[in-house]
Amino acid sequence: MLVEVVLTAVLAVLLWAAFFRRPEGLPPGRWGLPVFGYIPLTRKSMEEQILDLHKKHGDIVIWRMGNQLMVFISDYQLGKEALARADFANRPDWEMFKFLEDFPLGVGASNGAHWHANRRFTLRQLRDLGMGKSKLVAGIQEQATKLVERLKQQANQAAPVPHALKVAVVNVIWNMVAGKMFEMEDKRLAEFDKLLQDLNAATFALGVRDFFPGLKYLPKFLQNLLFSMDLVEGFKEKFLAFFDEVVNEHRASLDPNNPGDLVDAYLLEMKEGSESPDVIRSEKDLGLLVLDLFFAGSETTTNTLTFMVQYLAMHPDIQKTMQEEIDQVLPKGTLATLEDKARLPYTEAVLHEILRLSSLLPVGAQHSAVTDTQLGGYFIPKGTTISTSAVFMHSDPRYWEKPEALKPERWLDENGKFTTKKEGFMPFGSGKRVCLGESLARMELLIFATAMLQSLSFAPPPGATLDVTADPAIPMFHTPRKQDVFITLR
Ligand code: HEM
Repeated sequence: MLVEVVLTAVLAVLLWAAFFRRPEGLPPGRWGLPVFGYIPLTRKSMEEQILDLHKKHGDIVIWRMGNQLMVFISDYQLGKEALARADFANRPDWEMFKFLEDFPLGVGASNGAHWHANRRFTLRQLRDLGMGKSKLVAGIQEQATKLVERLKQQANQAAPVPHALKVAVVNVIWNMVAGKMFEMEDKRLAEFDKLLQDLNAATFALGVRDFFPGLKYLPKFLQNLLFSMDLVEGFKEKFLAFFDEVVNEHRASLDPNNPGDLVDAYLLEMKEGSESPDVIRSEKDLGLLVLDLFFAGSETTTNTLTFMVQYLAMHPDIQKTMQEEIDQVLPKGTLATLEDKARLPYTEAVLHEILRLSSLLPVGAQHSAVTDTQLGGYFIPKGTTISTSAVFMHSDPRYWEKPEALKPERWLDENGKFTTKKEGFMPFGSGKRVCLGESLARMELLIFATAMLQSLSFAPPPGATLDVTADPAIPMFHTPRKQDVFITLR
């Protein structure tokens, strides 16, 4: 009997040491209980708790949740170093990234050789199709003109920023990807958009399933109920079915000597076959790659412009200065081109302040440690999730004086010239997986913003104020609150 007790005790100690012991040299923070990790018992949001952790423990902290060890970095230099390193280039193996695929496809969730090939392919295609070049300007201007016409229709009424803004932004990327545009009132796009909003709101619940892998064995109806799995499946299936039609049309008209868009170029690569066994070339991969671009390329730019409208409505003096600059540089009826950027320093400064204050991805997009490694003098085990707390960096008093204030002047030198102040600023991420559409987004922000402010002014509805803080219903993305604004014609 004694031998059995001793053996059981030894086994328990060995199991504990193998699975539950806190490894030496980890950053400080929340380790918590075996199996569960640290489960917070507070009404504070995840973002507020991460900020508290940074305040208490410093620039690099851990939070173990279920089986997932997460590291959060709030120091700009350390975050930049981590994102530049190949040993942090992977994405975590999370369903919310992978869209329930066993092998992560597309570009935003994939890893290794497959990700490299898709990232290279997508960047090349977007550049060939005009990203960052004047070739694309006319297309963005056309969408900006349509958007302004639509906004004019709601002049002198209290109403939210209309869905037409999303359509105009989607059309820019959709035209590059599939050579198509949606009508301003397109029902199918509105349906996708509604599904995307529901998905965004469900991200946190999906995360719980990723952190406690045992939950994957629960009956399907319970998983649907608890983690909105049916939402993810439904969205993916709807999008892929819609995309199937797009691919069939492209197949029918494919001209090998003259690929017109990204889908054409991918179909041609598919015909040639993959360059390596680790790189998959399939219609599903193409579908998920396009879904990444559709999602990453529309939500972000639309939300930045909506935040801009709301901030400017609350800061009429800044709006007026911006309009005066636009009027001087772009006589009415003239839309901005890339060459005008240097002549619009105040506008550029306002857009940078909006990107800083809105911090759309408050803790960045998660990366994962490819191998056991070190960061900031701490041990980081393989598989640890790395998040860069952009919201903290963007309000860090080491880089920003009065960080909570909308102060375009902080981006201007004594001659009023725009200074690309990079320290402490990371809205597009950095390093290996830096936003693939950054220069497209910058083109869109400049052209859409100047077109809107040239013809329109924004204010809160009479007697009201606007809340420019992010919508708490969507925890992991900063999304503007749905609230009325009051548009007047200039
Ligand atoms: C204001 C607009 C935008 C913001 C603030 C933004 C921000 C970001 C951030 C923070 C990341 C994560 C970087 C990382 O993992 O470290 C990212 C990734 C990405 N963005 Fe953007 N983005 C914007 C617009 C766009 C547009 C227009 C496109 C369309 C081409 C796009 C496509 C992507 C893709 C495909 C990735 C994943 C890259 C990868 O995993 O290799 N983004 N973006």
